[in-house]
Amino acid sequence: MLLLYFLYFLVFSFVFCRSEFCNEDKCLLPSCLCPTSNDNPMPLAFTELPQFILLTFVGNLNRDTLDPIRSILNSTYRNPNKCPISSTFFIDHVHTDYCLVQRLFDNQNEIAMTTSSNKCPLNNCYNESNWHHWTDDDWHDEIKQQRLNIVENARIHQSHIKGFRVPHLQIDENKHFEYLKRFHFHYDSSMLFKSSSLMWPFTLDYPFDQTDCINCQQWNGSFEALWQFPLHEWTYTHATNSCRTLFDSSCLPTDLPHSIDLLFHFLLHNFERHASLSIGYRSPFIIQLDLSLLSQQNNNLRLQALIRFIEYILNSSSHRYVYFVSIEKALEWFKYPRSLSELRDFWAFSCNDKIYEYDIDCLNSESNGNDQGKTESLKSDGETNVDHSKMIDYQAEKLYPSGLAFHALWVSVLLILSVLFYDKYFTSM
Ligand SMILES: *[C@@H]1O[C@H](CO)[C@@H](O)[C@H](O)[C@H]1NC(C)=O
Ligand SMILES: *[C@@H]1O[C@H](CO)[C@@H](O)[C@H](O)[C@H]1NC(C)=O
Ligand SMILES: *[C@@H]1O[C@H](CO)[C@@H](O)[C@H](O)[C@H]1NC(C)=O
Ligand SMILES: *[C@@H]1O[C@H](CO)[C@@H](O)[C@H](O)[C@H]1NC(C)=O
Repeated sequence: MLLLYFLYFLVFSFVFCRSEFCNEDKCLLPSCLCPTSNDNPMPLAFTELPQFILLTFVGNLNRDTLDPIRSILNSTYRNPNKCPISSTFFIDHVHTDYCLVQRLFDNQNEIAMTTSSNKCPLNNCYNESNWHHWTDDDWHDEIKQQRLNIVENARIHQSHIKGFRVPHLQIDENKHFEYLKRFHFHYDSSMLFKSSSLMWPFTLDYPFDQTDCINCQQWNGSFEALWQFPLHEWTYTHATNSCRTLFDSSCLPTDLPHSIDLLFHFLLHNFERHASLSIGYRSPFIIQLDLSLLSQQNNNLRLQALIRFIEYILNSSSHRYVYFVSIEKALEWFKYPRSLSELRDFWAFSCNDKIYEYDIDCLNSESNGNDQGKTESLKSDGETNVDHSKMIDYQAEKLYPSGLAFHALWVSVLLILSVLFYDKYFTSM
C-alpha cells in the first residue's frame, strides 16, 4: 500500500515538474521570478516599489565618445540615497580604450559585455563581403574572447562580469544562452518587447508567452536562475509606429521639429508608461544608449534632452522613488527586494565618496587601437598568452590590508598549540 502511494507521488511530481509554465508557488526569489507584464510581480505594494531607470551603454568606448558619458554621469547627479547615479556598459573590443573601462568600473559603474567583434550574428547588417551566419563555435569564441579581453586589459576580475547583451539585439535561438550558462553569467539583457507589453525582469527557467517579443520568437530553452532584463520599444503620443530606441525617429511626429523639448517629452512619455499604475507598475525603464550615435554631432539634441530628463527626475520632489543604478545593483534588489523606505540603507546601492576623473591616467596610456582589425582580435584558445600576474582580483585584495588574514593565522597557531599542550599534559592521566 505504501509503495502504491509512493508511486502515485512519483508520477504526480513528475507531471508537476514537467508543467510548462511558470508556477509562482515553485518559482521563488532569490533565484526564480516568473515573467510578468503590465502587473506587479514583487512581494511589495505598488507604492513601496522603487522605479529603476537603467542606463545601458553599447558601442565604441574611447576618448571620442567620452564627453557624452561624462556629462550623463556627472557626479552632481545623485539618487535619493545621495549616491551618484550609476550605469551599465556592454563592452566590445572594437576601438575600446580599456583604461576608460577601468575608470568607469572604479566609479561604481558596471562593466558587462557583448561579443568581441560586435558584428551581426544573424543577418548581414553592415553588408560585409565575407559575412556568415554565426555558428555555435563563433558564439563560444566571441564570448570567451571578450571576457578575456576585459580581464586582461581592464584588470577586472571575471567574477565582476555578470551581464551580457547580444550585438545589435540579434538573438539566434538559444545559442548565446547556452554559453552564458556555461560561463556563469548572471543575466542577459537582449530581449526586445513591444511597448504594449511592459515586462518585468524575470528568470529564464520556464517557457513564456513570446508573442510580444520582437527578437526572441525562436527561443525555447530553459536556463535555470539566468535573469533576463528586457528592453522595450518606445512610443509617443498619437504615434502609429513604434521606435526601436531613443535614437529612432519612426514614432515621432513628422510635422514638428525634433527639438530638445520634444525629445524630452519623448523620454518622459515612455518613463511615465513604465511608472504608471495602469500600465507598467514601475517596471524598470531600461534605456539603450549607443555611444557611437550619442557622440555624433546631429544627436546632440538627444543628449541634451536626456540630461534635462535626468536633472528633472532627480531634482523633483515628486520623483523620490526613482533610482538610476546599474543592472547589477538592480539585480540585487530583485533577489532581495526591500521597500522604498529601506532603500536608503540598502548595501547594494551604497557608495563611498571617492570620485575619479574619467580621463586621469588614461590620457597618456597607449591606446588600444585594435589595428589588427576586428576578426584578428579573436584568438583561438591555444594561442592566448595570458599574463597571470594581471589576473589578480584587485577588489578582493582589500581583504589583506584589513589584517583579517593575519588575525586568522595567529588564532589558528594558538589553537594548535593549546591542543598540543592539552594532549601532552592532561590526556595521559
Ligand atoms: C556637472 O554638473 C555641474 C553642475 O551642473 C556643471 O557645472 C559641470 O560642468 C558638469 N560637468 C560635466 C562634465 O558635464
Ligand atoms: C553590398 O555590397 C555589395 C558588394 O560588396 C554591393 O554591390 C551592394 O550594392 C551593397 N549593398 C548595399 C545595400 O549597400
Ligand atoms: C527547441 O527547438 C529546437 C528546434 O527548433 C528543437 O530541436 C528542441 O528540441 C527545442 N527544445 C525544447 C526544449 O523544446
Ligand atoms: C531644481 O529645483 C529647484 C527648486 O525646485 C529649481 O530652482 C532648480 O532650477 C531646479 N534645477 C534643475 C536643473 O531643474
